Amino acid sequence: MLAARGALRRGRLPAAGVGVGSVRLRGPPRLPPHVVDLRSDTVTRPCAAMRRAMARAAVGDDDYGEDPTVNELQCLAAGILGMEETLFVPTATMANLIAVMCHCQRRGAQLLLGRDSHLHVYEHGGAAQVAGVHSQALPDLPDGTFDLELLELTIREAHGSRYHPRPELLCLENTHNSAGGRALPLAYLQQVRGLADRYGLRVHMDGARLMNAAVAQNVEPARITQHCDSVSLCFSKGLGAPAGAVLAGRREFIAEAWRMRKMLGGGMRQAGVLAAMARVGLEHMGVTLRRDHDNARRFAEGIQELSSPLCSVNLAAVETNIVMVNISGSCSSPAELCEHLQAVSEEELAETGHAVSVLLFPWSAHAVRAVWHRNVSAHDTELAKNKLEFVARKCREKLALGLRPTPPNAEGA
Ligand SMILES: Cc1ncc(COP(=O)(O)O)c(C=O)c1O
Repeated sequence: MLAARGALRRGRLPAAGVGVGSVRLRGPPRLPPHVVDLRSDTVTRPCAAMRRAMARAAVGDDDYGEDPTVNELQCLAAGILGMEETLFVPTATMANLIAVMCHCQRRGAQLLLGRDSHLHVYEHGGAAQVAGVHSQALPDLPDGTFDLELLELTIREAHGSRYHPRPELLCLENTHNSAGGRALPLAYLQQVRGLADRYGLRVHMDGARLMNAAVAQNVEPARITQHCDSVSLCFSKGLGAPAGAVLAGRREFIAEAWRMRKMLGGGMRQAGVLAAMARVGLEHMGVTLRRDHDNARRFAEGIQELSSPLCSVNLAAVETNIVMVNISGSCSSPAELCEHLQAVSEEELAETGHAVSVLLFPWSAHAVRAVWHRNVSAHDTELAKNKLEFVARKCREKLALGLRPTPPNAEGA
């Protein structure tokens, strides 16, 4: 599974006109298979408007505060997020780390966060390694929220106790990636804010996909962020830019964040070329994110209609651009299903008239993740759905013959 994950991560795509996986398309050279890449919303390529904006961007030395395009983006993002100021940073990981460093200025402070949150699992323990902060990880519920009673119990236990690290910061993730792109309910955010205020904690939101939440809930992003002291927003996910994120908060917080960014990586200089593309992403987001959510839902409905023993989906959990497909262990593993979907065969071409390679991410021992983004059209979604239906049918046929539906390269087909 790890090897397959590695290959998918590295994007080992089928080569044009040659074998796909180890499945060779025999006969005269054909068009390369059509690739639908649903591994992540980070795989997008900048659109023509972004490239134009990059070429035209007015730039200056951002370290002196003289890059007009960065300054404009920071102001625009602050307005959208309803925060006093924002700071442009290279990645959402850096935005989250800076937030932890600024909110927790005492070594050994306690940060409460989700056990499955990106900050806890995928950011290389920056909170501990760099910020010197102790993480208290709580279970994430299936909808990406915390059990508020457990959260309060955990805070109360440490609050005012000289035997525990001091709880200072609470981090939320919205949308919640591991929960399948769930948008945190507004009423829940209000309750979290109340709780944090009762115990004097700050609230940071990892809003790498915050705009997906705003579109799904049909609210202004500021309605969501009003419950937070700071929020990070990523431009290189659903918004489709090649790099960049902002950290947003109060003026003094952002002044401190600027110092931390300097310490972590120095000056951004003529970063306006990146900010220009991020701005195009912001301008287009209303249309692209809504379309991504609709396509994700259509795909999920297609899986539900299949009623396949191979895979299933909880439709109620599909709120934004992510679909977690649950895999039935008796048929295939997540990595094997990904291999089936990636491979292209003569049989597929003969039966469906298409050669489509669909890339998904083997997320856990029981699920694969599919993520929609601006480079996936409604037609691509239809092709991906048909491919899954084809793979499910082939697996069923094998099972009916008493055979295990091994991936194409294992068969040497
Ligand atoms: C929820 C969440 N937060 C933060 C990040 C980190 O983003 P970056 O790769 O820009 O550091 C990711 C990346 O996938 C993410 O999914």
